[in-house]
Amino acid sequence: MDAQPQTTQRLDQEARDIMIRNDRGGYSVPTHGLYPYQWNWDSAFAAIGYAAFDMDRAWIELETLMAAQWHDGMVPHIVFHEVDPGYFPGPDIWGGVGPVPSTGISQPPVAASMALRLWDNDPEMGAERFLPMFDGFVRWHRWFMDWRLHDGAVCITHPWESGRDNTPDWDGAMANLIPRDLGEYQRRDTGHVDASMRPHKSDYDRYLTLVAIGHEARWEQGALHASWPFRVADPTMTFILLRAHRDLAELGRRLGRDVSEIESWIPILEAGAETLWNPELKTYDVRDTLSGEWSCCVSNASFLCWWAGIDRAEMLPHLRRVNRAVRFGVPSHDPESPAFEAKRYWRGPVWAMLNMLIAEGLDEFGYDDGALLRQNTARMIEENGFAEYFDPITGAPAGGQNFTWTAAIWLDWASPRAREENRWAG
Ligand code: SER
Repeated sequence: MDAQPQTTQRLDQEARDIMIRNDRGGYSVPTHGLYPYQWNWDSAFAAIGYAAFDMDRAWIELETLMAAQWHDGMVPHIVFHEVDPGYFPGPDIWGGVGPVPSTGISQPPVAASMALRLWDNDPEMGAERFLPMFDGFVRWHRWFMDWRLHDGAVCITHPWESGRDNTPDWDGAMANLIPRDLGEYQRRDTGHVDASMRPHKSDYDRYLTLVAIGHEARWEQGALHASWPFRVADPTMTFILLRAHRDLAELGRRLGRDVSEIESWIPILEAGAETLWNPELKTYDVRDTLSGEWSCCVSNASFLCWWAGIDRAEMLPHLRRVNRAVRFGVPSHDPESPAFEAKRYWRGPVWAMLNMLIAEGLDEFGYDDGALLRQNTARMIEENGFAEYFDPITGAPAGGQNFTWTAAIWLDWASPRAREENRWAG
């Protein structure tokens, strides 16, 4: 056996071990210590990782997530199954009003797309496992349509709702948000990970201010809608929800359900995506809906257009330009921008799960760049392990280690074995 298959076998085993170690029984944590609860989009990616070796466990991950759905349809970004003092802010600070303790915001709804992937991998049980969840998914997607649209683009009301916490995309909107005097509080993240890889205190003051406002209003969207002080139209959310609508409609058709409502949402978001086109920078960009200002940022979320089914000619030169500037693409922020920081969370590092979505979108439009990105991501993981994110210039692992979604992305997509086994791998 030559070295490459041995490396693949070793990394496949390591990835499975990480996923098993991060399994808390019905849900997975993103990593031990830093993130001790169930995160929404982490779980969706975890499901496809489990599918590589335990299909039943894969479905359970989504079932547990959907069981935390709120009465209004929202599926929360963190589900606090068991209180862990190692994480801040916990359930008492959030004051979630769902059936289990949770945060009061959602996260990129990639779960329907991952459910479709599970079904493709499990044609025998797909209908039986997904049918009980279908209505919940429709209600969740409708919640975004009811409460998060601005001219058809999907907004976030908290940086954590996009999953891209401290991206430069909302530096302007965050600067306009006056933080409350919150007194002393103790962050826990910087006890697990070096502070140079995490957001600043000025960011946390604003994150917590938004949580306090939502908690006081018991997260009642009707009351919060008019006065909420942070509302940013985001390509992450817009592109991921657009793709998720398409995939949920496909799931519904397979179940023989009426999908006309879901189909009616698709052109709304297609039109909304075009409102995120910054004509000067010629990129999909973030827009602050309160000030009307563009962020003027090329981020890895800008490149989710293909995943959403949108092929915009100007985006490919941007992608090739940012990837040429680094050893491992796709950087989360333009390396030519003064705001780029190679190790600070969403201000530069590479994230494997976004690479998968970007690459698969490119594959679907027939661009070789998708296959190249998969190979590049595989090499990054081979050389640097299963970190939360990576320095795009050196590949150095950053953030939390032994990370569920990086292991899952390896098992389902980046591993050379996955490419041979999975019919969807490009
Ligand atoms: N990413 C946030 C954190 O760092 C929460 O989603 O805690």
